Amino acid sequence: MTRQRLSTCYYPEHVPEEIWAEDAARMRGLGLALVRIGEFAWSRLEPEPGLYCFDWLARAIDTLHGAGLRVVLGTPTATPPKWLVDRMPDMVAIDANGHPRKFGSRRHYCFSHEPYAQECERIVGALAKAFGTHPGVVAWQIDNEFGCHDTVESYLEAALLAFRRWCRARYATIEALNEAWGNVFWSMELSSFEAIELPNLTVTEANPAHRLDFRRFASDQVVAFNRRQVEILRRHAPGCVILHNFMGAFAAFDHHRLAQDLDVAAWDSYPLGFLETSRSDAAWKARYLRIGDPDFQAFHHDLYRGCGRSGWWVMEQQPGGVNWGAWNPLPAPGAVRLWTFEALAHGAEVVSYFPWRQAPFAQEQMHEALLLPNGEPNEAYHDAAQVARELAQLDARVETERAEVALVFDYESAWAWSIAPHGQDFSYLALALAIYRGLRRAGLSVDVVPPTRDAVSGRKLVLLPGLFAPHGEFVEALAASGAVVLIGPRSGSKTPHFRIPPELPPGELRALVDVTVRRVETLRPGVTVPLADSLGRFEHWREILMLGAGVEPVLETKSGEVALARRDRVFYLAGWPDATLLDEVLMRVLDLAGVEWLKLPADIRARDNGEMCYVFNYGPEPIDISALVGDVPLLLGDENLASCGVAAFRRPMRGFRADADRA
Ligand code: GAL
Repeated sequence: MTRQRLSTCYYPEHVPEEIWAEDAARMRGLGLALVRIGEFAWSRLEPEPGLYCFDWLARAIDTLHGAGLRVVLGTPTATPPKWLVDRMPDMVAIDANGHPRKFGSRRHYCFSHEPYAQECERIVGALAKAFGTHPGVVAWQIDNEFGCHDTVESYLEAALLAFRRWCRARYATIEALNEAWGNVFWSMELSSFEAIELPNLTVTEANPAHRLDFRRFASDQVVAFNRRQVEILRRHAPGCVILHNFMGAFAAFDHHRLAQDLDVAAWDSYPLGFLETSRSDAAWKARYLRIGDPDFQAFHHDLYRGCGRSGWWVMEQQPGGVNWGAWNPLPAPGAVRLWTFEALAHGAEVVSYFPWRQAPFAQEQMHEALLLPNGEPNEAYHDAAQVARELAQLDARVETERAEVALVFDYESAWAWSIAPHGQDFSYLALALAIYRGLRRAGLSVDVVPPTRDAVSGRKLVLLPGLFAPHGEFVEALAASGAVVLIGPRSGSKTPHFRIPPELPPGELRALVDVTVRRVETLRPGVTVPLADSLGRFEHWREILMLGAGVEPVLETKSGEVALARRDRVFYLAGWPDATLLDEVLMRVLDLAGVEWLKLPADIRARDNGEMCYVFNYGPEPIDISALVGDVPLLLGDENLASCGVAAFRRPMRGFRADADRA
């Protein structure tokens, strides 16, 4: 049971050395326990080839450690310095349009460029040897946000050659590759692995099987790049936590696989920035403008908790306005505190505000921080101080249990449906989030998990929306789990080689519920398919089903097509449900699964963490939550929970659920 702690992200290289000690003392005074440094400092750590200048970093670490802080040290490989790029100009990635991703910002490298990978090993090795056993350094962050600024895929010669090798290892013969990809179509057959090209700059869309394999390859390259640094750190920094800071709304490589090599999966949470860049409609964005989407952060907390081997953190927490949205509103008073507690309620071990001090120069000068550029406290400084006090009072610990409900999230599915969305607004992430929202509205604590046997065993309910090509073994695990299962829409609709299954969708999943998807259609915004009895609508995507033996229709569309089918404990949902329909479907599956659920007021969300229960008000008005709390004393917040309010109490959760309004 780990105690929960606060942290910040600091750039000693941005400020005069004279103020490091003062900054460190203020961090401690604020109640912060950790500080992340170093992840972009390569040009200061090695200003010339081979000239290591680690003294300043050693002094910075000593100063921070001396003040009682523990240091998370970043490897600086997201920002190769100019001299390095000049030495190997062909390390710069090429985008899908054939343009170089030039020096002058960050992430200007290609994951497949072997000489660059070796340079990374060299600098990481030198840093690990210098600081791996420093008593103040407790954790290492590898690189920074792999894939940020759309950098997973590179169309460089090095990537092409590595992709050809990858294809050879996967298919052994070119005939097997031609067969797997269906290259007879449009005369795309290849006579050797050397003839393989990258799937960009084609006249019209490239073959989806080719594109999917390229996505798999690109993901493997990120995993391998990360692993090389992990191996060095394990050798020279024994006992340190190794982590990476993943992103939100981002699935371009397989985070589950990469996180297997880490101790902690961390992510960077920018609620207002993400809301502004999301696909949510204007009314939703206006409603949650200053507090953020009530489910987006929670979904990612649950996703990354399911990635990490031994814990998860928020490595960067938005502390004020950001600089990178189309518009950049300021958070509502109390929003930063609410975001922090939402993460802690989901079991975060650490929440780290980014950054400590607003940089008055360069690209992020309009990004707010705990401190203003002149060093005075900004609003979030006070939020952080309050959370630190409350956390000490609550003595909160990470105790998140395995949830009864598991929502399957699969990175290949995200790639597949972005390659072939079929409808312009079909997004796998949006579908998974839509289902997650329904579960949150029902007051449930959910695990977001990969499609593996371990992840589903012992659950009461498993949901697999849009699961691209489930493996037979996973289908068996689902059957063996005894869980109620909700399949669809679009689940099992392809084979791993991006083909329609010979027995038609849902392919292997027909073993669980014998339905056949004969036809599908996508629906433009504003067009929906209504259900009978006004039970909601399908939007974006819907399917025409044929039912096999033993399968009964549960819900129908107004025009009489099956919308929800069931055999025993397995349901198949034939479209993308709106909120009304989703609530209707979830009520049925949750009841059958024996999972108690609630009907929370629109802007209220709740989360359990061990014996603690947290309640959050994402709305603009106070909301009476006394029905949720019952007779238990509140440790935080009031029964009339203010906008941005957080309530916490030790639950008898069963009573809490049973007493609540199930209207
Ligand atoms: C993150 C990144 C940070 C900083 C921040 C600004 O994506 O890791 O370095 O750029 O965004 O919001």
